[in-house]
Amino acid sequence: MKLFVLHFVLTIIVSVFSYDSSKYSGYKVYQVTPKSLYEAYILKEFEHDEHFDFWTEIRSINLPVDIMVSPLAQNNFEAIMKSANIDYFVNIDDVEASLQNEENTSGRSIVTRGSVTFSDFMRHDDINAYLEQLAQDYPQIVSIESIGISFEGRDLLLVRISSGGSNKPTIYVQAAIHAREWIAPPVALYIINQLVENPDNVNLYEDVDWVVIPVVNPDGYEYTHTTERFWRKTRSTGTICYGIDGNRNFDALWGTVGASSWQCDITYRGHKAFSEVETQAVRDYILEHKDDIKLFLDVHSFGRWLLYPYGYSDDEPDDVEELRTLGRLFNDAIHSVRGLNYTVLSFASGLYYASGTSVDWAKDIGIELAYTIELPSGGTGFDPPSSDIEPVVEETWEGFKAFHSYIVDKFVTN
Ligand SMILES: *[C@@H]1O[C@H](CO)[C@@H](O)[C@H](O)[C@H]1NC(C)=O
Ligand SMILES: *[C@@H]1O[C@H](CO)[C@@H](O)[C@H](O)[C@H]1NC(C)=O
Ligand SMILES: [Zn+2]
Repeated sequence: MKLFVLHFVLTIIVSVFSYDSSKYSGYKVYQVTPKSLYEAYILKEFEHDEHFDFWTEIRSINLPVDIMVSPLAQNNFEAIMKSANIDYFVNIDDVEASLQNEENTSGRSIVTRGSVTFSDFMRHDDINAYLEQLAQDYPQIVSIESIGISFEGRDLLLVRISSGGSNKPTIYVQAAIHAREWIAPPVALYIINQLVENPDNVNLYEDVDWVVIPVVNPDGYEYTHTTERFWRKTRSTGTICYGIDGNRNFDALWGTVGASSWQCDITYRGHKAFSEVETQAVRDYILEHKDDIKLFLDVHSFGRWLLYPYGYSDDEPDDVEELRTLGRLFNDAIHSVRGLNYTVLSFASGLYYASGTSVDWAKDIGIELAYTIELPSGGTGFDPPSSDIEPVVEETWEGFKAFHSYIVDKFVTN
């Protein structure tokens, strides 16, 4: 108990300083592995403190958790870890320096307008230009639709790939509702690229439609490119802080567990469910097409998790066995590429909960097969070196093909 009181007091003291965290000079990333529930609960005390940014969640004991800690809170944090005898080490000594190293080596390529690259992280404008070009070049199979305009005025483009006809089983994929998860848009773009531009894959959209939104949160995504690399939320204005966590803003037991009501927190849920234009746009599209959508995928990073509902409760859905079975098929396909594995698990773990997630909402409105994908880490975690993009998108694509086979087997009647 003493520990919590100490932590609380020190938190108040350091909290007086700084909302500005646009620079990461002196920030460290600690990797901490709680060995008991007691240790996990001590760690959880830091979750809603703005000096602590949990890059991965506390899902289980004996699993490492990555936490970025501001310079002001590091002494306090280390003292508490030591006195509680919790294993930790400094994974990144200076986040700002590690970012600069990566920018040095990333060899920024210039994307020709309308083309795609998987050797660098594309800006939102370039992503949209590529989608527009595809719609022009392949009008028989590609259609794009702006499902809304982001808070700062960017087009929320959705791509539909279809061989024609209507009401076909549809695989829905969205990415980058969390701005800093840079590996997510390339994974979404690779699906589009492979379906449309690789003739070997024509059979993959014969009986199944694919719908992909590569960047759900373009304002946040651009902000991570221009200003603050580890921004997570949208960029709507609050009275003190910007943005809400899009993946706490859906109407799935909204505002209950594992979501903050404080606007400066990175898991801020918003002042009501669907407060954001971006989540509204996603909601409206999905509600209109929910009878066709057979598989809902929300792509995030990082940690190599495939998470099925629910995040808001320990209860398991009735069809949890099927969700696990299909999850294993996804993992088998991934494993066959480089020998790496995903952990297939319920979103809520007993230690970690989240309400207002898109995956729970999709499940609740009747889309049976719904997952959150946490892609692999790389670099410091959220920023794989650009040389990692290709291996990751190629590997993940095999997993998507396994999903596709299952959807064909289950929903396409010949
Ligand atoms: C690489 O980064 C270092 C600091 O980390 C900086 O001093 C140097 O100018 C950078 N080099 C290039 C080519 O940008
Ligand atoms: C990784 O996945 C493969 C394929 O499903 C499985 O055979 C293997 O046991 C898994 N490895 C671990 C460490 O879970
Ligand atoms: Zn995320």
